[in-house]
Amino acid sequence: PSSSSLDVTARADEAAAVLRSALGEPPAAAVILGSGMGSLVDRFTDQTVIPYDQVPHFPKPTVAGHAGNVVFGSVEGAKAILFQGRFHYYEGHDLETVTFPVRVLQRLGVRTLILTAATGGVRPELRPGNIVCLSDHINLIGSNPLRGSNDAGLGERFPDMSEVYSKRLRNLARSEAKRLAINLIPAVYACLPGPSYETPAEIKMLRVLGADVVGMSTAPEAIVARHAGMEILGLALVTNAAAGVAATPVRHEDVLEAGRKATPLIGKLIRRIVLRLAGV
Ligand code: 6GU
Repeated sequence: PSSSSLDVTARADEAAAVLRSALGEPPAAAVILGSGMGSLVDRFTDQTVIPYDQVPHFPKPTVAGHAGNVVFGSVEGAKAILFQGRFHYYEGHDLETVTFPVRVLQRLGVRTLILTAATGGVRPELRPGNIVCLSDHINLIGSNPLRGSNDAGLGERFPDMSEVYSKRLRNLARSEAKRLAINLIPAVYACLPGPSYETPAEIKMLRVLGADVVGMSTAPEAIVARHAGMEILGLALVTNAAAGVAATPVRHEDVLEAGRKATPLIGKLIRRIVLRLAGV
């Protein structure tokens, strides 16, 4: 059957079946990697790599710097599924497509989702290279991934969003960051559709609204993961100052470069968190 003739649950079930036969018993935790952070998978051993084009109903990522693989790996025996390369709204995908990997994780029975992202610093104290832990988000993407008919088998029609980013996981991340001497800064994430970066006036507006960082991903996936009843941790890298915060323009190459530079540190933190989640 063609992709469009199946509902999202059926499509996610088909993708999950392929991953399950390749991976065996799915682990409790998954990680979606942000722009420039793909090499973070190298911190995981015993890798099984499944290219997205071998997973039914997975679209192709289009942005340079985003590989497209599902990677099954482990850290000292603690297992995780990593998505190397994500789908963005600005590529022209609808939000159901953007969040499809989260539905696949739901059908696999994954309970914990770590979302990572490259972000611009809205708060002037934030510096490139800072790592922030999302405390909340403001969804300004212009739509909602749950728009449309609701499959009660996936989640409720009007899901509560009062604690999207789990307090328990934030505390766990904070204690592991402390052990690694990482200054993990709590932050509210504003999600915009992109692909143009914001104007200085828009960044000023976001600051007034209570945003600390800005990006073009994460919120749709977080909404679907909450709908699915998952526990979510959001870790973001500040790759640059947002428009008007510093005198320099915002450039995609700088975003990717900062992502690559800070990936080892975020990788260390994610390794520790995956270990803790597995109770190792
Ligand atoms: Cl300044 N804005 C948005 N929307 N996304 C970003 C960014 C800025 N810097 C990195 N990602």
